[in-house]
Amino acid sequence: MQRVVLGVTGSIAAYKVLSLVRLLVKSKRQVKVVMTPAATSFVTPLSFATLSKHTVSVDLIDNDTWNNHVELGLWADLMIIAPATATTLAKLSIGLSDNMVIATYLSAKCPIYIAPAMDLDMWNHPATQKNIRSLKSYGHRIIPVGYGELASGLVGDGRMAEPEDIISFIDSTSLPFQDLDQNTILVTAGPTQEALDPVRYITNHSSGTMGIKLAEECANRGARVTLVLGCTHLKISHPNIKVIPVVSAQDMYLACKRQFDTCDAAIFAAAVADYQPSAQSKTKLKKSDGDLNIALTRTPDIAQSFGQIKRKSQISIGFALETNNGIQHAKGKLDKKNFDFIVLNSLKDKGAGFGLTTNKITIISRNTAPLYFDVKSKVEVAKDIIDQMVLLQNEKQSIV
Ligand code: C5P
Repeated sequence: MQRVVLGVTGSIAAYKVLSLVRLLVKSKRQVKVVMTPAATSFVTPLSFATLSKHTVSVDLIDNDTWNNHVELGLWADLMIIAPATATTLAKLSIGLSDNMVIATYLSAKCPIYIAPAMDLDMWNHPATQKNIRSLKSYGHRIIPVGYGELASGLVGDGRMAEPEDIISFIDSTSLPFQDLDQNTILVTAGPTQEALDPVRYITNHSSGTMGIKLAEECANRGARVTLVLGCTHLKISHPNIKVIPVVSAQDMYLACKRQFDTCDAAIFAAAVADYQPSAQSKTKLKKSDGDLNIALTRTPDIAQSFGQIKRKSQISIGFALETNNGIQHAKGKLDKKNFDFIVLNSLKDKGAGFGLTTNKITIISRNTAPLYFDVKSKVEVAKDIIDQMVLLQNEKQSIV
């Protein structure tokens, strides 16, 4: 969960920041608010505390207790200063630390977003514009002001961006949150091919898309990913993803064996063939007039093998593609393969199945009720699955 420090300063636009807090919390962010004393004349700390579910810091010293702005600054993954008054912009640009917002800002190591709010003459003044240039030169993002009627009654530039626009601006300009930057993740994806002879093989309809989207989501969030990939025409190019191409289930098993010990999580999204021809002919099998019976033997169950040796801290996630009694079958696989959770998709559901860009999933784990999701693009589905993985990882870490 992304940790946001929101610095509120003394402008009438502070009232709009209450709905910004709601939107941030709704988008699964944890929010702590710091206010300048001037901001409390516009909105009470209690309102922000109620919406953010965290205490609000206003003074550098509270009842003889030092408010630790350094800790708060370092806690944050993102800092937003909204509304930022002309005075605040000036103080930020020269590092004049006479209140909690500026002190926290000076301690923060995270990306900083600033949403100015002021009258148009103040906004257009060369002093303000110089401060804006300075702040941009420090690498901070300035959220564009809006045009319209201002509190003074004048019309022009200077309105603070609307809360929805602040969120869109942050989402479109920031890197995805790097919550997996300490993780090494193994993903299997795509179909395997089990050769009968040099010409023919047994396979299935999997394109590998879902597994690839999962690998990309982990990589975008900072993980080092090894993608053990069966035969697919899809191309993957991501600096954080190492692709190991494989053909058969046995190849996939051996490739995973080299990676499993060092991974923090393994996501088994491959459509592994369950059987392989018992014998592989070195030359093309000749047809005869009669029928042909092919003897098949089981392939290694990759997920099950690693489920047996998995360490407590490692997470393993599986998939179950079912056509009937989905939940019951998926629960059976969850136990048999010792997954932490299993992602069920049913061929019966509209929007789920082979070759589609969408999927409809249910996440099943041992001690909680199934989580049902709507039909979504596979990119969105990958986000939901990885969010669940991160929640579980946090739970495991809090137990250790
Ligand atoms: O038993 P079933 O094939 O339905 O189990 C599906 C899950 O097990 C998927 O996560 C799949 O990637 C994994 N699996 C595997 N090795 C196999 C068969 C399935 O890793 N041989």
